[in-house]
Amino acid sequence: MGKQIKTVGVLTSGGDAPGMNACIRAVTRAAIFNGIKVMGIYRGYEGLINGEIKEFTSESVSNTVQRGGTILKTARSKEFMTEEGLKKAYDNLQAFGIDALIVIGGNGSLTGAQRLAREFDYPVIGLPGTIDNDLYGTDSTIGYDTALNTIVDCVDKIRDTATSHDRIFFVEVMGRDAGFLAQNSAIAAGAEAAIIPEDQTDVDQLEQFISRGFRKSKNSSIVIVSESPKDGGAMYYAERVRKEYPQYDVRVTILGHLQRGGTPTAFDRILASRLGYASIEALKEGQRNVMVGIHDDEIVYVPIDRAVKKDKPIDRELINVLGVLSI
Ligand code: F6P
Repeated sequence: MGKQIKTVGVLTSGGDAPGMNACIRAVTRAAIFNGIKVMGIYRGYEGLINGEIKEFTSESVSNTVQRGGTILKTARSKEFMTEEGLKKAYDNLQAFGIDALIVIGGNGSLTGAQRLAREFDYPVIGLPGTIDNDLYGTDSTIGYDTALNTIVDCVDKIRDTATSHDRIFFVEVMGRDAGFLAQNSAIAAGAEAAIIPEDQTDVDQLEQFISRGFRKSKNSSIVIVSESPKDGGAMYYAERVRKEYPQYDVRVTILGHLQRGGTPTAFDRILASRLGYASIEALKEGQRNVMVGIHDDEIVYVPIDRAVKKDKPIDRELINVLGVLSI
């Protein structure tokens, strides 16, 4: 058992995600309830390096459970990636008397927490906050459900105009290297296909879909494409279809950052509240260097280095479901 935690720091880092505020609120109030002082760190690791830190009270998080974005602001800090930046961050944790750090963020942010833990034997707890849902060991990440619902809402609207014009739409969604948003939004919105990074046969998939003669029984088609710096995403597929099948009327919609905004769903608010609460329980139990996640509706602790391996598998059944239901 390490030293007793009297003060925790909390920060959000990387891409913002709806529900982060509900999580900050839960961390703050659970800590205060347990007699632990809370320091809010602004702008992620950047703010930690620059000392943008202030004590949070219960009132600091009033009226935030329903708000999108993050009241702590966020950043992707280049300086923190350097050895000097990491040392400055650690020195400030010491200077502000912060005994443990709670990091709410995605892969890169939790990897940063891991570096602090490794380099300085410093206690960190990670909380999965990203719309991408790409952290291993948790069934869902904070923000994923809201983003998924946002995408479905947008695709429903695109369907109206696609049907009116007999068009094929390629709709690009976020997810970085993970296809959870694309695959599940495709199922929920009744899309004809999803092109995801986990499916190596994506090019063939597109051909299969076209050669099936999408116009025979339908007067619109929607293909959800995961953003991908490797193949150019939706633009690339649209161009291919335009060249190879000039008879089709093709359009592209890139949903972009609107997927990251908005009021969190009830699911995300509850998830964020449970995980934030559990992070303080974890520290009390002496847990260190773990991500707190949820699996089968139970709170679980996952070693951070395991969570960030970028190998969370997508359920192959989801691919079959979409394939069968879109015939
Ligand atoms: O990590 C979340 C995410 O939304 C990814 O899906 C996307 O690739 C990335 O952030 C975009 O981030 P930004 O434009 O903020 O750098």
